[in-house]
Amino acid sequence: MDVALVTGASSGIGLAVARRLVEMGYGVYGYARDHGKASFRHERYRPVDCDVMDTRVLLERTEALLRETGGLKILVNNAGVGFFGPHATMAPDRIERMVRTNLAAPMILTRATLKHLEHSRGFVINIASTAALNPGPFGAAYGATKAGLHQFGEALFSEVRKSGIRVVTLFPDMTRTSFYDHADFEPGEAPDAHITPECVADAVAQAVGQREGTVITQIAIRPQRTQVVRKGPSQKKKD
Ligand SMILES: NC(=O)c1ccc[n+]([C@@H]2O[C@H](COP(=O)([O-])OP(=O)(O)OC[C@H]3O[C@@H](n4cnc5c(N)ncnc54)[C@H](OP(=O)(O)O)[C@@H]3O)[C@@H](O)[C@H]2O)c1
Repeated sequence: MDVALVTGASSGIGLAVARRLVEMGYGVYGYARDHGKASFRHERYRPVDCDVMDTRVLLERTEALLRETGGLKILVNNAGVGFFGPHATMAPDRIERMVRTNLAAPMILTRATLKHLEHSRGFVINIASTAALNPGPFGAAYGATKAGLHQFGEALFSEVRKSGIRVVTLFPDMTRTSFYDHADFEPGEAPDAHITPECVADAVAQAVGQREGTVITQIAIRPQRTQVVRKGPSQKKKD
């Protein structure tokens, strides 16, 4: 059985991708800090407690996984956090959390699994964001982490393509998940004003299902129209 590792599998996009890969027949390991948020249970799904910001834990968990499975076919770098607002007021620890979770952890985890992915002619799938493609105000640091992930994926592909590894970058636009719990805005409720985690999982399935020899390197997923809804202070969760 081929094995996939999905970071940030306890909610939103990561959970939908983990479910989809299980449906496709993979044995899936999901990393997160709080698996209690999801009710997903399956004999081929293994939740693993892992804070990807803690490099020691990240490497220990991954070495244990690779020892247990003996191989890896798909790595999905999905765990991420976003904080938004004027950069002048962005707390330094929030900047650090975004850089470590969204950019450093994917690079470290890819490094830790690359030999196995080479052996399996597998996939590195990075969940970036349209913020990587469209720089805008009030998300400079978040956008920079996602642009960095995009750049990392493109450069990595040029380095490893000869060995058969496929590197895919996904650029989802506003997706209705708990990502916006702490923000003062969220995507609109209308079906054409947001995308869903399942839309992103469909895109992952499409990239993974491509014939060997062809690589879908980039997929942007956007709602038909843009609608950003401002929240009242009572609707915003505390950190
Ligand atoms: N929602 C959007 O509009 C949107 C658009 C484009 C891209 N994205 C990207 O999509 C990815 C998933 O976001 P989402 O929308 O699905 O948000 P979400 O529902 O908040 O999910 C985020 C996931 O990341 C995990 N995570 C966060 N920090 C972690 C850490 N230190 N260690 C391990 N896991 C951690 C969370 O798990 P725990 O909290 O349990 O650890 C959770 O499973 C992120 O990279 C985000 O930047 C989202």
